[in-house]
Parts: sequence; C-alpha cells; structure tokens
Amino acid sequence: MSLRFASAFGLQTPPLPKGPPYLCLDLIDWVGFPFWLEPYDSRLIDIHHGEPAPTPPLENLEGMIRYWEEHPEWMDMLNPQSPVFEDKQIESALYLDFWGNHVPVEKKVLDIGGGVGRITQILLQKNCSIDLVDPDLRSLWRAVSMAAGGPGSLDVHWSTGEHMPDLGVFDCAVACEVLNYVEDPQKIVDRIYTSLKPGGTLLISLEARWGWAMSSDVAAGSIESFFTDGIVHVPHDRWIRTYTREDVIKLLYRFSSIQLQPSHYAFSGPFEMATGLLPLEKAIKIERRFRNHPIACKLNRAWMVIAHK
Ligand SMILES: C[S@@+](CC[C@H](N)C(=O)[O-])C[C@H]1O[C@@H](n2cnc3c(N)ncnc32)[C@H](O)[C@@H]1O
Repeated sequence: MSLRFASAFGLQTPPLPKGPPYLCLDLIDWVGFPFWLEPYDSRLIDIHHGEPAPTPPLENLEGMIRYWEEHPEWMDMLNPQSPVFEDKQIESALYLDFWGNHVPVEKKVLDIGGGVGRITQILLQKNCSIDLVDPDLRSLWRAVSMAAGGPGSLDVHWSTGEHMPDLGVFDCAVACEVLNYVEDPQKIVDRIYTSLKPGGTLLISLEARWGWAMSSDVAAGSIESFFTDGIVHVPHDRWIRTYTREDVIKLLYRFSSIQLQPSHYAFSGPFEMATGLLPLEKAIKIERRFRNHPIACKLNRAWMVIAHK
C-alpha cells in the first residue's frame, strides 16, 4: 500500500506532505523511520518476520532479511561507506551508458523491485515522480530515507511485482536486476505493459544464462544448473532464473521494439579477475571488446534491455 497508509508500531507517523506521490523535499521527517504497510502479497508478512518462504523464488527474500541482520553495510549500497558502494555506482553508470537518452527526465516512473532505490535515486535527481514497488519492507524504509530531502517525488508499495495493484499510467518502467528472482516473470512484464502509456519505455537488466558459472561470486556446488535449467538455487538464500537472448525476447513479445545488449563480461562477470578494477570509461571499452570477441561474446553475465510499448 501507499505511504499514505503507513503506520508506526503504535507511534505517531511523521507528517506526510500532500500526495501521493510525495515531494521528497518534504519527507525529511521520515529519515530513519521504520514504518508498517499492509502488503499487497500477504505472504510477505511471515517472511518479513523470519518465517521460511513458501516458494523457492521467495527464498531470495529470506536471504535479504539475513543480510540486513548480518551485513547491513552490504545492503546499504547507496551509503558511500558501504563496501559495495563503488561497485554499484560503476554498475549504474554502465546501465546509464546503455539506456542513454531513454532515461526519463521529469516523468512518471514505475520502479519494480526497486530495492533501496539505486535506480530511483538516479531518476529522482532527474526530477521524476517514482512509484517504487518491492517485497522487502526493510529496503523500502531505506529507499524513503535516501530520497528524503532531495528532488523529485516518491511513493512506495510493499508488494511482489506479481501482486502489485493498478498504480496508474507511467511513461517509463524499470526492472533492474529483478526478473531473475520472481515466481512469474511473464505476469510481471504483462502488468508493466498494461501500466505503460503507448510508446512508453521499459528499462531492464537481468542475469544471463551462461556467464554466472564463471563469476567470482558463483555459489559453490551450483554447476548442475549450468547443464540443466539454468536456475541457481541455494536454499533459503538465493534462487536465480537465468535468461538466454531468446528467453528475453519471448518475455517481451508484446513490446513493439526491443534493444538488447549483452553486458557484465568484466564487471561482475567471468573476466573480472583477468581484467582487474577499471575506471568507467575503460570498463565500457573492454565490455565492447568482449562483446565483439568470437569466444567471449556468449559469456555475458547480464543483459541490458530497452523496450518500447
Ligand atoms: C538485486 S536487487 C535489485 C534492486 C534494484 N532494482 C537495483 O538495481 O539496485 C533485487 C530486488 O528484487 C526484489 N524482488 C524479489 N522478488 C521480487 C518480486 N517477486 N517482485 C518484485 N521484486 C522482487 C528484491 O526485494 C530486491 O530488492
């Protein structure tokens, strides 16, 4: 549900400005404020309280809750003190480089699986109005805190993409590193499609079918899924559906145009160690070389996509 329905575990909620969406400048009293919302997917309540997830894809949320407890500094990726801050910033810059002038300015945007708001932050700086949907309530708390006091407007909704309600019509939707973790990607993409205005833009990134198995953060013992269905499952920690080019095109069949780019060869990919840490400009150049190399080209860790309704 919208921030409009937030409650505060018996405490008084901070004042809400006129909305939704809410001017971030006027959300300053919400910084660090953990709120409760009724989720649109009722299964999320038990998971939030530490119960085991009812289906394998939702086990990703179990993993996230454990990381929030054991390594909040990893989850807090927008904090410059976070050990993953720099990596996440370079990765965002790679996305922005590909998405280019399709990145919306002063538009209405749906950020599905927006997490702590990494992409939302970029769009808020462009004065967009964002509806951020995520099944991890702790991430929503962080997303509101990070946005408060800055430009743009925001509302947040506690939901899986499959269960999100009709939130209106959008110029652009973003699903950055999300469709790998969901139970029903087609249902989510169909919901996005109906939420977009004609000609609206969808910006996606998702994990690819082969490159993960050679990456430095691969789950030990997961090789069988390389040979079989491409789903990497570490019980109660992660469940990742990986995609071939054909899978992505099939998923987006209703969209009138699709631009798809293989990426993450050096960055988080199989050639990370061999490449070493590079500044953005060099990282972009070497990604291009891998993409054009006859052997390496098939080993991308991710796909970046621009689609239009
Ligand atoms: C790798 S994070 C990406 C977060 C953000 N989009 C970014 O790029 O930084 C994956 C996100 O997907 C969310 N997620 C998991 N299952 C989902 C579902 N069924 N529907 C929508 N989001 C989901 C998680 O809560 C998490 O925030």
